Amino acid sequence: MNIAVIGTGYVGLVVGACLAETGNNVCCADIDEEKIAGLKRNVLPIYEPGLDSLVERNQREGRLTFTTDLKSAIEDVEVLFIAVGTPPGEDGGADLQYVLEVAKLAGRYMTREMVVVTKSTVPVGSAAKVAAVVAKEAKFPFHVCSNPEFLKEGTAVEDFMRPDRVVLGVDGAHARRVMADVYAPFVRTGKPILLMDIASAEMTKYAANGMLATRISFMNEIANLCDKVGANVDFVRKGIGSDSRIGQSFLFPGPGYGGSCFPKDVKALVKMASDNGVALDVLKGVESANDRQKRVLMQKVKAALGGSLKGKRVAVWGLAFKAGTDDMRYAPSLTLIDSLLDEGVSVCAHDPAALGHAKTLIGNRIDYAETNYEALTGADALVVVTDWNEYRHPDFERVKRTLKQPVIVDGRNLYDVERMRELGVRYFSIGRPAA
Ligand SMILES: NC(=O)c1ccc[n+]([C@@H]2O[C@H](COP(=O)([O-])OP(=O)(O)OC[C@H]3O[C@@H](n4cnc5c(N)ncnc54)[C@H](O)[C@@H]3O)[C@@H](O)[C@H]2O)c1
Repeated sequence: MNIAVIGTGYVGLVVGACLAETGNNVCCADIDEEKIAGLKRNVLPIYEPGLDSLVERNQREGRLTFTTDLKSAIEDVEVLFIAVGTPPGEDGGADLQYVLEVAKLAGRYMTREMVVVTKSTVPVGSAAKVAAVVAKEAKFPFHVCSNPEFLKEGTAVEDFMRPDRVVLGVDGAHARRVMADVYAPFVRTGKPILLMDIASAEMTKYAANGMLATRISFMNEIANLCDKVGANVDFVRKGIGSDSRIGQSFLFPGPGYGGSCFPKDVKALVKMASDNGVALDVLKGVESANDRQKRVLMQKVKAALGGSLKGKRVAVWGLAFKAGTDDMRYAPSLTLIDSLLDEGVSVCAHDPAALGHAKTLIGNRIDYAETNYEALTGADALVVVTDWNEYRHPDFERVKRTLKQPVIVDGRNLYDVERMRELGVRYFSIGRPAA
């Protein structure tokens, strides 16, 4: 099948490469010339495990092409995926301008009957707006489909190739048949394709992210309470997660959620609710709890180092908003670093994948280390912000030796409290006793 994917970011690139991998002819288009020039040479703009080999192989075998010429990308395709960004507008709602720009071009340049698929996360009613914009220009029949994406950065290829489910909101039989055909190779193990109306599909994506963000904020607040009352959130987490109604995933407390999705999707969902006269107070609480949580690491650094922080130096392990990605959008590390710099602390940071983005975002306000141990030199404390595998089991003797004083603030609860006590490390984590 001839497919166009418009927008070649974290989602579009994964979708395009995976659809090419199953035998489709896929053209990925983007307005970012540098990104496309790099992709033509197999230079990926993002870090995503397993994606580089997919791009390289499918490009070499001629199933995957990249262009900045949207006209040539759109001509002769049966399915067009819109995968551009939907950043928050000033009022918190999703800004649809990029989606609708693509919809206009889809209508203008189509040369045959086409399904226009919204892959970007968009509020209920967006597919109808897309349809209206396409209709103004279209000279051929077209159909719309809402196909929200549930991939997770860091495991995006695996998530797309083996999804828990595929959600398809369709406007009729043609879109249903074509889209079920596109996704058939990905659901061979019996995972469901959930066909539904378009509004429900659009809502499903926001409801999923709202629920996940709620679990995170809930556990973060429980952990903060554990800190105060002398309970250990590790036990509490296992205690509640063993209940089959609750389950174990997504119950780890941390430094607050970040990334390109939860912060903006929670905002957009609250806005959608308020536009429709629904309070959605739970999610307002989730959002403010998360804003507070992003400041918890700084409070712990202050408690650990005491007194004035001016002139102190702190090592930061992890800048990406989570492990497995180089994405730093709304990352908790940014909040921490800003607060440290405001207090006159110098910072040396390490991240296995995000240093490039960090240098663009933070510039020379901090120092960057090539290895995690190098970041510790001359530092008064180590703060672990991202749960990268390589931080999970470091050489603690070396950590102790390299730091000026053995102080660790662990935003991911990676280390065993008792072990830290035995090592003589002053250790502060989230919702567990200090050592
Ligand atoms: N990142 C995720 O983990 C994730 C997961 C599920 C859903 N989503 C949703 O998918 C959408 C895309 O997210 P992303 O993280 O891939 O964004 P991104 O910012 O990484 O990529 C968006 C791309 O679209 C391009 N673009 C913008 N306007 C364009 C236009 N008019 N024509 C062609 N290209 C254009 C940009 O240059 C950019 O490369 C968002 O709605 C997001 O909420 C993201």
